[in-house]
Amino acid sequence: MKKWNVDRIRKSKGVEKLGCCTAYDACFARLADEAGVPIILVGDSLGMNALGYETTLPVEMSDTLAAVGAVARAAKEALVVGDMPFGSYQCGEDDAMRNAVAVIKAGADAVKLEGGASVAPLIRRLTTAGIPVLAHVGMTPQSVNSYGGFKKQGKTREAADQVLADAKAVEAAGAFAVTLECIPSELAAEITAALKIVTVGIGAGPVCDAQWLVMHDLLGLNEKVPSFVKKYADLAAVVRGAFASYVREVSAGTFPPAE
Ligand code: KIV
Repeated sequence: MKKWNVDRIRKSKGVEKLGCCTAYDACFARLADEAGVPIILVGDSLGMNALGYETTLPVEMSDTLAAVGAVARAAKEALVVGDMPFGSYQCGEDDAMRNAVAVIKAGADAVKLEGGASVAPLIRRLTTAGIPVLAHVGMTPQSVNSYGGFKKQGKTREAADQVLADAKAVEAAGAFAVTLECIPSELAAEITAALKIVTVGIGAGPVCDAQWLVMHDLLGLNEKVPSFVKKYADLAAVVRGAFASYVREVSAGTFPPAE
């Protein structure tokens, strides 16, 4: 199969729906890639799923660059998107440009950053410089402290209009796709119909052009998951069982066998 690129993603709108996910290391990125996942996001959710933080806020550029490099080396066909961590694009556009360039040099095909109209000038500058941008509106987890928790957004008509305006602003600024996170499905449907670019929903209902799931959630590695998640496997039980068998067999002297 040919490699997914932003042009192919753009052309998928209205033709096929894309099941996309996160990955943070080479092993899982290779498996996702071999399974045909079209977009692998090295999300800043790596902070919660791989580094043990409560939020995405502590993730550093060095964490992102190491993970992007690992995923990019393993993914042969998927489009690899590197998430800009909190603090990497909030301290001025020149700083943001340098950090986005570093994410691309580490191996990403595109960057993702959170925000709507307020980051549209930065998106314009990035895309003009040849850096494809996947935007992110609705519930933006890097604003968790402003929300007072990870809360659904766009619930009133006024709030919904703001999310819609943000989505239109990032499209006008040149983003090739936009994440819609934790918004009512009717609003996601309205935005998906209003935009020419691909919408990638997470907790935003079935009408989006594509979906994200966090890898650890979809594989059942996380036992507690958001209500919208479907677990496609129960790897926590499988992995825990394998570790326990190994410990038991070593303790019993049956592994390694004499031969
Ligand atoms: O970091 C992440 O995993 C994300 C997805 C939830 C879209 O931003």
